[in-house]
Amino acid sequence: MGDTIALERRYGATNYAPLPIVLTRGEGAWLWDDTGKRYLDMLSAYSAVSFGHGHPKLVKALSEQAARLAVTSRAFHSDKLSPFLAKLCEVTGMDRALPMNTGAEAVETAIKCARKWAYVVKKVPRDTAEILVCDGNFHGRTTTIVGFSSEPQYRDDFGPHSGGFRRVPFGDAKALAAAITPNTAAFLVEPVQGEAGIVVPPAGYLTECARICRDRNVLLIVDEVQTGLGRTGRILAIHHEGVKPDGLVLGKALGGGLLPVSAFLARDEVMGVFKPGDHGSTFGGNALGAAVGLASLEVLLEERLAERAAAMGAHLLQRLRAISSPIVTDVRGQGLLIGVELDPRKVSARRFVETLLKHGVLSKDTHGTVARFAPPLIVERADLDWAVDRIRDALREYGPVYEKAA
Ligand SMILES: Cc1ncc(COP(=O)(O)O)c(C=O)c1O
Repeated sequence: MGDTIALERRYGATNYAPLPIVLTRGEGAWLWDDTGKRYLDMLSAYSAVSFGHGHPKLVKALSEQAARLAVTSRAFHSDKLSPFLAKLCEVTGMDRALPMNTGAEAVETAIKCARKWAYVVKKVPRDTAEILVCDGNFHGRTTTIVGFSSEPQYRDDFGPHSGGFRRVPFGDAKALAAAITPNTAAFLVEPVQGEAGIVVPPAGYLTECARICRDRNVLLIVDEVQTGLGRTGRILAIHHEGVKPDGLVLGKALGGGLLPVSAFLARDEVMGVFKPGDHGSTFGGNALGAAVGLASLEVLLEERLAERAAAMGAHLLQRLRAISSPIVTDVRGQGLLIGVELDPRKVSARRFVETLLKHGVLSKDTHGTVARFAPPLIVERADLDWAVDRIRDALREYGPVYEKAA
């Protein structure tokens, strides 16, 4: 382990600070390190591995397609792209899909689409369109995207930033209404803020945002890169409120934990602003990614993983909330996207996830104070119970722990 980590430290950029563990194998919800020790994956690569490690159907789709045809570029049609796009639209209720690779690229696609829609359809004067985003947002790491982050570390020292973005408080529909101007093209929002620490907005927030956007001719674009495809207990997190957006961003789990596959989806007249040559990606929509993306959507539906996430998430949330510990200040979440807020005066979230690692549970700190739990949606109830026992053991290292009465 030491050699591997030292080699990475020697030759790699230091833009990550991984936990000190070298993983060598994964199966379902479990991972193994180079000493053979087993861990429960309670992070799922930030939801990219929602369907578990090495899902047989996904590995089969990947290997069969890799052997047949992988990449052609979009200069030609492939027989795999159209069934993938059709299924993606059917599953999400959107009209059209534009495939990309990473989440950030799909967000960039959404931004370009919203701006062109503003100029061509809404008739906003050229180069004055504005997109509203939220405080605490996380939409990726491109230079445009970090420019509208409220997190100084993500933003500062990477300027000059592109203009045309303004932040409003998350969870406050009145603030959104007050910020809209005739030049507002779109409101870009995460249904639950993942990176910000699993922040769930008040009930009715997204419904109200959708109403405001509709009334004011502003596109509602939801970024479900992390929350989408079953994670929160519905296929999309916006389904909790029956919201129909104008644009939708998906990524992570769409690649079945095997490949980067993302997409921007939109209503017909919104996506219609793109003409040949306006936008593209050499790898976006490649046959290999499309085959895996289609298989991922089939797994999501066949295994009823959204329902499973709802049931398992409710169970995990209830069991975590039943633990009383002096270092835990809040437990919150939706489906299998759960954050445990820790008292920073007593322990840093980083130190706590290192303690969890020792106990065999892999998770990740976010924003210094939150440990996030997002296991693969295929996780067994018994595995979650095992994890809760380990989390309790870890908490016990920082003070007395007892079970609250039901
Ligand atoms: C909501 C959201 N949008 C976009 C992204 C960026 O995705 P990627 O890292 O694939 O570029 C992330 C990644 O964590 C995310 O959580």
